[in-house]
Amino acid sequence: MADIIGIIQVKGGVGRSTIATNLAAQLAAEAPTALIDCDLPQGTSASWYALRCQASLATGLTLATAVDHAELVTLCGRLAVDNRYLIIDAPPRLAEMTRAIIVMSRLCLIPLGASASEIWSTTDLMKSIAEARQYRPTVDARLVWNRFRANTREAQELSDAVGRELGLPELVTKLGYRVAYSEALARGVSVGEWSDRAAREEMTRLVGEVRSIMKGETT
Ligand SMILES: Nc1ncnc2c1ncn2[C@@H]1O[C@H](COP(=O)(O)OP(=O)(O)OP(=O)(O)O)[C@@H](O)[C@H]1O
Ligand SMILES: [Mg+2]
Repeated sequence: MADIIGIIQVKGGVGRSTIATNLAAQLAAEAPTALIDCDLPQGTSASWYALRCQASLATGLTLATAVDHAELVTLCGRLAVDNRYLIIDAPPRLAEMTRAIIVMSRLCLIPLGASASEIWSTTDLMKSIAEARQYRPTVDARLVWNRFRANTREAQELSDAVGRELGLPELVTKLGYRVAYSEALARGVSVGEWSDRAAREEMTRLVGEVRSIMKGETT
């Protein structure tokens, strides 16, 4: 049975596609993986995948798209047969789609930047998580800090306060602000396949953390 990982957030531009594509590339190197782009017509993950195919780098990874929650549920059932991991790049709105992703996912990752607007939008998302928990109380949703400025006290204080207020666990690994993320995305590669060692190492740590959460090794 496939593990489903949903990358959700109601605000745009927070790093959903960045995390989805990097996770997909790294997990596909280990086991058959499908990347499902639900953020159409924008289709960032789908465009990234098209470039990846042109560069003959898509071994182990397939791409699918879904426009609504009904299509997504059917698609996941089909793709779960032949894949070990399904990575869902969620749209910024569409409450029904987001709820379906939360209910189906073994793990939901919520990218978040240390800015007020991104934090307010996560408060909106809490409603969808609460609704999904009525169907499945064991929903596991965790924050992932993105574009995090580790050396600023403000960012650290903000992240502590948000963690407390939202009551959501967060990944230990935080992604820094690095041009490698946009350079890799624009070329159909992961940061693991790009030249910035710091980005490569933090993404490897993030994927390792995700794996251990799914194995139940990290609470
Ligand atoms: N940690 C980071 N450092 C630098 N740039 C980043 C980082 N994370 C994401 N970006 C860049 O910010 C832009 C938005 O990121 P991304 O596309 O992953 O967000 P999204 O939530 O999927 O946005 P959208 O609403 O457009 O789908 C992209 O150009 C991406 O390369
Ligand atoms: Mg996106």
